[in-house]
Amino acid sequence: MSDASTVSNPSWRIEPVGPLHGDVTVRGSKNAVTKHMVAAVMGRTPSKLSNCPEIGDIQITAEMLRSLGCHVEVEADTVTVEPADVVSGRVPLSYGGLNRIPILLVGPVLHRMGEVFVPLVGGDRIGTRPVDFHVSSLEAMGAEVHMGPDGLEAKALRLHGANIRLPFPSVGATETVLLTAVLAEGRTVLENSAIEPEVIELALFLQRMGARIELRPDRRFVIEGVERLQGAEHRLDGDRIEAFSYLVAGLVTGGRVRVHGCPQGRLVTAISTLQRMGARFEITDDWLAVSAQSLRPAVVQTDAHPGFMTDWQPPLVVLFSQCAGMSVVHETVYEDRFPYVAALKEMGAEVELFDACLGGQDCRFNESTAMHSAVVHGRTSLRGAEITVPDIRGGFGYVIAAAAAEGPSLLHHVHHLERGYHRPLEAFAGLGLHISREGPPPPS
Ligand code: UD1
Repeated sequence: MSDASTVSNPSWRIEPVGPLHGDVTVRGSKNAVTKHMVAAVMGRTPSKLSNCPEIGDIQITAEMLRSLGCHVEVEADTVTVEPADVVSGRVPLSYGGLNRIPILLVGPVLHRMGEVFVPLVGGDRIGTRPVDFHVSSLEAMGAEVHMGPDGLEAKALRLHGANIRLPFPSVGATETVLLTAVLAEGRTVLENSAIEPEVIELALFLQRMGARIELRPDRRFVIEGVERLQGAEHRLDGDRIEAFSYLVAGLVTGGRVRVHGCPQGRLVTAISTLQRMGARFEITDDWLAVSAQSLRPAVVQTDAHPGFMTDWQPPLVVLFSQCAGMSVVHETVYEDRFPYVAALKEMGAEVELFDACLGGQDCRFNESTAMHSAVVHGRTSLRGAEITVPDIRGGFGYVIAAAAAEGPSLLHHVHHLERGYHRPLEAFAGLGLHISREGPPPPS
């Protein structure tokens, strides 16, 4: 390929080979590692994270922390953050729009510097993704916040504890509150918190750094601010989104994939959902494997943890296209998570989108025009296609679809995938898929 889009953006060429078989080992999760790096900014001593994936998001976050004066080393699977020399409270504009990390830096940098500027956050375009819960939580804890056209400025002489109730159990806003409350003066009570495994992992890391955090049974975090935090060490838990994606890649192609490195507990709702569809699991302390003779359709609603994770939704829709009968997905976390379906339809999938809440209770998007329910009619043969990847999770859905299709596929803009998956080409090649890359080198 030599067209202009592939000069700056890499592409993957995929030749399906039939059933995928083999082993994949996942590393620590993308959605945890960068947040741990942010927490480390508050330690008086260095922090060390191991089992880190090789993903672009770590490089982006490392550069942001370096711009503040932190010393960050990324060596093999280990990231070390030495925060002693934080000298700036300003994250440069050039880091705007790349990931969700800038907004999470606000509380920690306020503790260090008393003022902060962060550029607008980015991440996948799967909904409006506002930061209003973050801003109102920071204000409740005493920050003076100003949202400008380029980013967010905040000031606070000393942050204090507060009683906060999130309108929705947002992962990022829960993390903002945890990262801010740990060094604030007094007690913070956070109701309607997100309790995703990656959030709990961050809370445990902060506890290891010396924070006083309790999780009450009703999804309430109670945090007593402390005067100082130390650095800590942590080996990250396996990425449940990657694990699910590879397990489904096996099922979609009629093969059997064994995933190492992701604890069963992180996949519990994924396992029970696939079991309901007729999948057979083998599970040990070290790995999970899944296969199926035939799969039944299902009705699935995405939700906050412990519900079915929204990031598992694109692989599931591809799997539904290969199950005989009608399946339904009700997306309740993001209002705009189905645009990727258009290309799947071009590949031959039969999917209809609705603004109604199908297959579950009415959600926040009930009265809106958001197309947040999908009906999938299977089983349809998929054809290879040339596709531009829209976002990280939808994009991985295309890889899985391409592996199950007839004929080759060419996926452009796979930098979205390389930002968040650990060595995906090697993983798929290890499962037997013929997959090759064109374009500039991947992040190392
Ligand atoms: C994180 C994950 C993402 C996952 C999501 C939900 C990272 C880097 N990303 O995203 O992979 O899909 O959790 O499990 O960890 N909301 C607001 N206002 C806010 C904050 C959120 O309205 O201030 C809404 C969002 O628009 C969305 C919902 O709350 O509809 C959930 O978002 P949230 O849980 O915050 O997602 P992220 O933390 O951005």
